[in-house]
Amino acid sequence: MTNTPRILVTGATGNVGSAILALLVAAGAPVLAAVRSEDTKVPSGAKAVRFDFLDPGTFTAFQGVERVFLMRPPAMGNARRDLGPAIAAMKAAGVQQVVFLSLLGAERNPVVPHRAVEQLLLESGMDWVFLRPSFFMQNLSTTHRDDIKDRNDVFVPAGKGRTSFIDVRDLAAVGAKALLEGHRNVAYPLTGDEALSYAEVAHELSLALNRTITYSDPSALRFYRAWRERGQPRAFVLVMLAIYTTAKLGLAAKITDDTRRLLGRPAITFRQFAQDERQAWI
Ligand SMILES: NC(=O)c1ccc[n+]([C@@H]2O[C@H](COP(=O)([O-])OP(=O)(O)OC[C@H]3O[C@@H](n4cnc5c(N)ncnc54)[C@H](OP(=O)(O)O)[C@@H]3O)[C@@H](O)[C@H]2O)c1
Repeated sequence: MTNTPRILVTGATGNVGSAILALLVAAGAPVLAAVRSEDTKVPSGAKAVRFDFLDPGTFTAFQGVERVFLMRPPAMGNARRDLGPAIAAMKAAGVQQVVFLSLLGAERNPVVPHRAVEQLLLESGMDWVFLRPSFFMQNLSTTHRDDIKDRNDVFVPAGKGRTSFIDVRDLAAVGAKALLEGHRNVAYPLTGDEALSYAEVAHELSLALNRTITYSDPSALRFYRAWRERGQPRAFVLVMLAIYTTAKLGLAAKITDDTRRLLGRPAITFRQFAQDERQAWI
Protein backbone atom coordinates (compact mmCIF):
# COMPACT_ATOMS: atom_id res chain seq x y z
CA MET A 1 0.00 0.00 0.00
CA THR A 2 2.47 2.60 -1.15
CA ASN A 3 0.07 5.56 -1.11
CA THR A 4 -1.10 5.01 2.46
CA PRO A 5 -0.07 7.89 4.70
CA ARG A 6 2.19 7.18 7.67
CA ILE A 7 0.22 6.04 10.73
CA LEU A 8 1.36 6.17 14.37
CA VAL A 9 -0.20 3.81 16.93
CA THR A 10 -0.20 4.73 20.63
CA GLY A 11 -0.71 2.04 23.28
CA ALA A 12 1.10 -0.23 20.83
CA THR A 13 1.76 -2.84 23.53
CA GLY A 14 -1.84 -2.75 24.82
CA ASN A 15 -4.88 -4.90 24.01
CA VAL A 16 -6.31 -2.71 21.26
CA GLY A 17 -3.16 -0.95 20.00
CA SER A 18 -1.27 -4.20 19.44
CA ALA A 19 -4.19 -5.68 17.48
CA ILE A 20 -4.49 -2.53 15.33
CA LEU A 21 -0.75 -2.51 14.74
CA ALA A 22 -0.84 -6.11 13.51
CA LEU A 23 -3.68 -5.32 11.07
CA LEU A 24 -1.94 -2.21 9.71
CA VAL A 25 1.30 -4.13 9.20
CA ALA A 26 -0.62 -6.93 7.45
CA ALA A 27 -2.19 -4.30 5.17
CA GLY A 28 1.30 -3.09 4.23
CA ALA A 29 0.79 0.40 5.66
CA PRO A 30 3.79 2.43 6.86
CA VAL A 31 3.37 2.21 10.64
CA LEU A 32 5.11 3.61 13.70
CA ALA A 33 4.60 1.80 17.01
CA ALA A 34 4.78 4.42 19.76
CA VAL A 35 6.39 2.75 22.79
CA ARG A 36 7.70 4.02 26.12
CA SER A 37 10.74 1.80 26.31
CA GLU A 38 13.42 1.62 23.61
CA ASP A 39 13.77 -2.16 23.88
CA THR A 40 10.07 -3.00 23.34
CA LYS A 41 9.73 -5.59 20.60
CA VAL A 42 7.33 -4.54 17.84
CA PRO A 43 6.09 -6.64 14.91
CA SER A 44 8.43 -6.72 11.93
CA GLY A 45 7.03 -4.31 9.39
CA ALA A 46 6.44 -1.64 12.05
CA LYS A 47 9.04 0.82 13.28
CA ALA A 48 9.34 1.52 17.01
CA VAL A 49 9.44 5.16 18.08
CA ARG A 50 9.83 6.36 21.65
CA PHE A 51 6.73 8.13 22.99
CA ASP A 52 5.42 8.98 26.44
CA PHE A 53 2.29 11.10 26.97
CA LEU A 54 3.98 12.61 30.03
CA ASP A 55 7.30 13.47 28.33
CA PRO A 56 7.01 16.30 25.76
CA GLY A 57 10.58 15.52 24.68
CA THR A 58 9.19 12.42 22.92
CA PHE A 59 6.52 14.32 20.93
CA THR A 60 8.94 14.48 17.98
CA ALA A 61 7.40 11.03 17.29
CA PHE A 62 4.61 12.88 15.42
CA GLN A 63 6.93 14.40 12.82
CA GLY A 64 5.97 13.19 9.34
CA VAL A 65 2.88 11.37 10.67
CA GLU A 66 -0.48 11.88 8.98
CA ARG A 67 -2.81 9.65 11.01
CA VAL A 68 -2.77 8.60 14.67
CA PHE A 69 -4.48 5.86 16.68
CA LEU A 70 -4.90 7.45 20.09
CA MET A 71 -5.78 5.63 23.29
CA ARG A 72 -5.99 6.86 26.86
CA PRO A 73 -3.89 4.72 29.21
CA PRO A 74 -6.27 3.47 31.93
CA ALA A 75 -4.27 5.13 34.73
CA MET A 76 -4.75 8.62 33.24
CA GLY A 77 -7.76 10.16 34.96
CA ASN A 78 -7.04 13.79 34.12
CA ALA A 79 -7.28 13.76 30.34
CA ARG A 80 -6.76 17.46 29.67
CA ARG A 81 -3.62 17.54 31.76
CA ASP A 82 -2.19 14.16 30.67
CA LEU A 83 -3.23 13.91 26.99
CA GLY A 84 -3.76 17.58 26.09
CA PRO A 85 -0.09 18.39 25.39
CA ALA A 86 0.34 15.35 23.10
CA ILE A 87 -2.82 16.27 21.16
CA ALA A 88 -1.54 19.84 20.72
CA ALA A 89 1.79 18.44 19.52
CA MET A 90 0.01 16.23 16.93
CA LYS A 91 -1.79 19.24 15.57
CA ALA A 92 1.43 21.28 15.46
CA ALA A 93 3.25 18.46 13.64
CA GLY A 94 0.60 18.39 10.89
CA VAL A 95 -1.30 15.22 11.84
CA GLN A 96 -4.56 15.21 9.88
CA GLN A 97 -6.67 12.43 11.36
CA VAL A 98 -6.93 10.97 14.88
CA VAL A 99 -8.83 7.74 15.58
CA PHE A 100 -9.52 7.76 19.32
CA LEU A 101 -10.43 4.78 21.50
CA SER A 102 -13.30 6.20 23.55
CA LEU A 103 -16.13 4.49 25.42
CA LEU A 104 -19.74 3.56 24.64
CA GLY A 105 -21.99 6.42 25.76
CA ALA A 106 -19.09 8.86 26.31
CA GLU A 107 -21.08 11.61 24.58
CA ARG A 108 -23.66 11.51 27.39
CA ASN A 109 -21.16 11.18 30.22
CA PRO A 110 -19.18 14.32 31.04
CA VAL A 111 -17.48 12.58 33.99
CA VAL A 112 -15.42 10.05 32.02
CA PRO A 113 -11.96 11.19 30.86
CA HIS A 114 -12.76 9.87 27.36
CA ARG A 115 -15.26 12.69 26.86
CA ALA A 116 -12.59 15.26 27.73
CA VAL A 117 -10.29 13.73 25.10
CA GLU A 118 -13.13 13.84 22.55
CA GLN A 119 -13.62 17.53 23.36
CA LEU A 120 -9.91 18.23 22.88
CA LEU A 121 -10.00 16.54 19.49
CA LEU A 122 -13.18 18.38 18.45
CA GLU A 123 -11.48 21.66 19.35
CA SER A 124 -8.21 20.70 17.59
CA GLY A 125 -9.43 21.07 14.01
CA MET A 126 -7.93 17.68 13.07
CA ASP A 127 -10.25 15.07 11.53
CA TRP A 128 -11.50 12.71 14.21
CA VAL A 129 -13.03 9.27 14.54
CA PHE A 130 -14.35 8.16 17.93
CA LEU A 131 -14.44 4.40 18.46
CA ARG A 132 -16.95 4.01 21.30
CA PRO A 133 -16.85 0.34 22.28
CA SER A 134 -18.82 -1.55 24.87
CA PHE A 135 -17.12 -3.81 27.41
CA PHE A 136 -14.29 -5.97 26.02
CA MET A 137 -14.74 -9.77 26.03
CA GLN A 138 -11.00 -9.91 26.67
CA ASN A 139 -11.53 -8.51 30.21
CA LEU A 140 -12.55 -12.08 31.06
CA SER A 141 -9.23 -13.46 29.83
CA THR A 142 -7.09 -10.71 31.37
CA THR A 143 -8.43 -8.86 34.45
CA HIS A 144 -10.71 -11.72 35.56
CA ARG A 145 -8.61 -14.58 34.29
CA ASP A 146 -7.36 -15.86 37.65
CA ASP A 147 -10.85 -16.04 39.20
CA ILE A 148 -11.93 -18.25 36.31
CA LYS A 149 -8.70 -20.23 35.95
CA ASP A 150 -7.97 -20.87 39.63
CA ARG A 151 -11.42 -20.61 41.30
CA ASN A 152 -13.78 -21.56 38.43
CA ASP A 153 -15.83 -18.46 39.13
CA VAL A 154 -16.87 -15.30 37.34
CA PHE A 155 -16.50 -12.88 40.24
CA VAL A 156 -18.19 -9.61 39.20
CA PRO A 157 -21.04 -7.70 40.88
CA ALA A 158 -23.31 -7.32 37.87
CA GLY A 159 -26.50 -9.04 39.09
CA LYS A 160 -28.73 -10.13 36.22
CA GLY A 161 -27.73 -7.19 34.01
CA ARG A 162 -26.76 -7.86 30.41
CA THR A 163 -23.67 -6.57 28.59
CA SER A 164 -23.24 -6.21 24.82
CA PHE A 165 -19.60 -7.39 24.91
CA ILE A 166 -17.33 -6.68 21.95
CA ASP A 167 -14.31 -8.75 20.94
CA VAL A 168 -11.16 -6.58 20.80
CA ARG A 169 -10.40 -8.16 17.40
CA ASP A 170 -13.58 -6.60 15.97
CA LEU A 171 -12.82 -3.26 17.60
CA ALA A 172 -9.29 -3.32 16.16
CA ALA A 173 -10.63 -4.23 12.71
CA VAL A 174 -12.90 -1.17 12.75
CA GLY A 175 -10.04 1.02 14.02
CA ALA A 176 -7.65 -0.20 11.31
CA LYS A 177 -10.31 0.36 8.65
CA ALA A 178 -10.94 3.93 9.85
CA LEU A 179 -7.20 4.64 9.75
CA LEU A 180 -6.52 3.03 6.38
CA GLU A 181 -9.58 4.57 4.70
CA GLY A 182 -9.20 7.97 6.39
CA HIS A 183 -12.72 8.18 7.89
CA ARG A 184 -13.58 11.73 8.96
CA ASN A 185 -15.54 13.26 11.81
CA VAL A 186 -17.67 10.30 12.78
CA ALA A 187 -18.38 8.39 15.99
CA TYR A 188 -18.94 4.63 15.96
CA PRO A 189 -20.78 3.04 18.89
CA LEU A 190 -19.38 -0.50 18.73
CA THR A 191 -20.92 -3.55 20.39
CA GLY A 192 -21.29 -7.23 19.71
CA ASP A 193 -24.50 -8.56 18.15
CA GLU A 194 -25.78 -9.98 21.47
CA ALA A 195 -26.03 -8.91 25.12
CA LEU A 196 -25.23 -11.61 27.67
CA SER A 197 -25.85 -11.83 31.40
CA TYR A 198 -22.88 -13.01 33.49
CA ALA A 199 -24.78 -16.23 34.23
CA GLU A 200 -24.73 -16.80 30.44
CA VAL A 201 -21.05 -15.83 30.33
CA ALA A 202 -20.32 -18.49 32.99
CA HIS A 203 -22.37 -21.01 30.98
CA GLU A 204 -20.42 -20.23 27.77
CA LEU A 205 -17.11 -20.56 29.64
CA SER A 206 -18.26 -23.91 31.09
CA LEU A 207 -19.01 -25.14 27.56
CA ALA A 208 -15.67 -23.95 26.18
CA LEU A 209 -13.65 -25.36 29.08
CA ASN A 210 -15.64 -28.52 29.66
CA ARG A 211 -15.79 -27.83 33.41
CA THR A 212 -18.28 -25.92 35.56
CA ILE A 213 -17.69 -22.20 35.87
CA THR A 214 -20.01 -20.45 38.35
CA TYR A 215 -21.18 -16.86 38.57
CA SER A 216 -21.08 -15.89 42.25
CA ASP A 217 -22.42 -12.31 41.77
CA PRO A 218 -20.80 -10.86 44.91
CA SER A 219 -22.20 -7.80 46.67
CA ALA A 220 -20.48 -4.51 45.84
CA LEU A 221 -18.84 -4.53 49.29
CA ARG A 222 -17.54 -8.09 48.96
CA PHE A 223 -16.17 -7.33 45.49
CA TYR A 224 -14.49 -4.14 46.73
CA ARG A 225 -12.89 -5.87 49.73
CA ALA A 226 -11.69 -8.87 47.71
CA TRP A 227 -9.95 -6.70 45.12
CA ARG A 228 -8.45 -4.40 47.74
CA GLU A 229 -7.09 -7.47 49.57
CA ARG A 230 -5.45 -8.46 46.28
CA GLY A 231 -3.49 -5.22 46.54
CA GLN A 232 -5.28 -3.32 43.76
CA PRO A 233 -5.44 0.49 44.02
CA ARG A 234 -8.67 1.97 45.39
CA ALA A 235 -9.31 4.03 42.24
CA PHE A 236 -9.00 0.97 39.98
CA VAL A 237 -11.42 -1.07 42.11
CA LEU A 238 -13.91 1.80 42.26
CA VAL A 239 -13.84 2.16 38.47
CA MET A 240 -14.56 -1.57 38.10
CA LEU A 241 -17.36 -1.29 40.64
CA ALA A 242 -18.90 1.61 38.72
CA ILE A 243 -18.71 -0.37 35.47
CA TYR A 244 -20.41 -3.46 36.95
CA THR A 245 -23.05 -1.36 38.70
CA THR A 246 -23.87 0.18 35.32
CA ALA A 247 -24.29 -3.33 33.92
CA LYS A 248 -26.38 -4.38 36.93
CA LEU A 249 -28.74 -1.48 36.27
CA GLY A 250 -29.26 -2.71 32.72
CA LEU A 251 -27.38 0.19 31.15
CA ALA A 252 -24.71 -1.88 29.35
CA ALA A 253 -27.07 -3.94 27.21
CA LYS A 254 -27.47 -1.65 24.22
CA ILE A 255 -26.69 -3.33 20.88
CA THR A 256 -25.70 -1.36 17.78
CA ASP A 257 -25.22 -2.58 14.21
CA ASP A 258 -22.14 -0.45 13.49
CA THR A 259 -19.62 -3.28 14.01
CA ARG A 260 -21.50 -5.56 11.64
CA ARG A 261 -22.10 -2.77 9.11
CA LEU A 262 -18.49 -1.58 9.05
CA LEU A 263 -16.97 -5.06 8.90
CA GLY A 264 -19.57 -6.48 6.50
CA ARG A 265 -19.98 -9.61 8.64
CA PRO A 266 -21.49 -10.53 12.02
CA ALA A 267 -19.56 -9.56 15.14
CA ILE A 268 -17.49 -12.27 16.83
CA THR A 269 -19.71 -14.08 19.35
CA PHE A 270 -18.83 -14.66 22.99
CA ARG A 271 -18.92 -18.39 22.23
CA GLN A 272 -16.25 -17.97 19.55
CA PHE A 273 -14.16 -15.78 21.83
CA ALA A 274 -14.32 -18.36 24.65
CA GLN A 275 -13.21 -21.12 22.25
CA ASP A 276 -10.37 -19.04 20.81
CA GLU A 277 -9.04 -17.93 24.21
CA ARG A 278 -9.59 -21.12 26.18
CA GLN A 279 -5.86 -21.54 26.87
CA ALA A 280 -6.08 -18.44 29.11
CA TRP A 281 -8.21 -20.33 31.64
CA ILE A 282 -6.49 -23.74 31.57
N1 LIG B 1 -11.64 -2.80 28.90
C1 LIG B 1 -12.79 -2.42 28.41
O1 LIG B 1 -13.80 -3.12 28.49
C2 LIG B 1 -12.91 -1.05 27.76
C3 LIG B 1 -14.11 -0.70 27.14
C4 LIG B 1 -14.21 0.55 26.51
C5 LIG B 1 -13.10 1.42 26.52
N2 LIG B 1 -11.94 1.02 27.13
C6 LIG B 1 -10.81 1.97 27.13
O2 LIG B 1 -9.71 1.40 26.42
C7 LIG B 1 -8.51 1.99 26.92
C8 LIG B 1 -7.52 0.89 27.26
O3 LIG B 1 -7.14 0.24 26.08
P1 LIG B 1 -6.29 -1.12 26.14
O4 LIG B 1 -7.07 -2.14 26.93
O5 LIG B 1 -5.85 -1.43 24.76
O6 LIG B 1 -5.03 -0.66 27.02
P2 LIG B 1 -4.03 -1.55 27.87
O7 LIG B 1 -3.98 -2.96 27.32
O8 LIG B 1 -4.33 -1.34 29.32
O9 LIG B 1 -2.62 -0.88 27.53
C9 LIG B 1 -2.23 0.38 28.02
C10 LIG B 1 -1.24 0.97 27.03
O10 LIG B 1 -0.93 2.31 27.43
C11 LIG B 1 0.47 2.47 27.35
N3 LIG B 1 0.87 3.54 28.27
C12 LIG B 1 0.70 3.58 29.61
N4 LIG B 1 1.20 4.74 30.09
C13 LIG B 1 1.69 5.43 29.02
C14 LIG B 1 2.34 6.69 28.89
N5 LIG B 1 2.62 7.48 29.95
N6 LIG B 1 2.72 7.09 27.65
C15 LIG B 1 2.49 6.29 26.57
N7 LIG B 1 1.88 5.08 26.64
C16 LIG B 1 1.49 4.66 27.86
C17 LIG B 1 1.02 1.13 27.75
O11 LIG B 1 2.35 1.03 27.36
P3 LIG B 1 3.51 0.25 28.23
O12 LIG B 1 3.66 -1.09 27.57
O13 LIG B 1 4.69 1.10 28.10
O14 LIG B 1 3.01 0.16 29.65
C18 LIG B 1 0.09 0.20 26.98
O15 LIG B 1 0.48 0.09 25.64
C19 LIG B 1 -8.88 2.81 28.16
O16 LIG B 1 -8.97 4.17 27.87
C20 LIG B 1 -10.24 2.21 28.50
O17 LIG B 1 -11.03 3.11 29.26
C21 LIG B 1 -11.82 -0.18 27.73
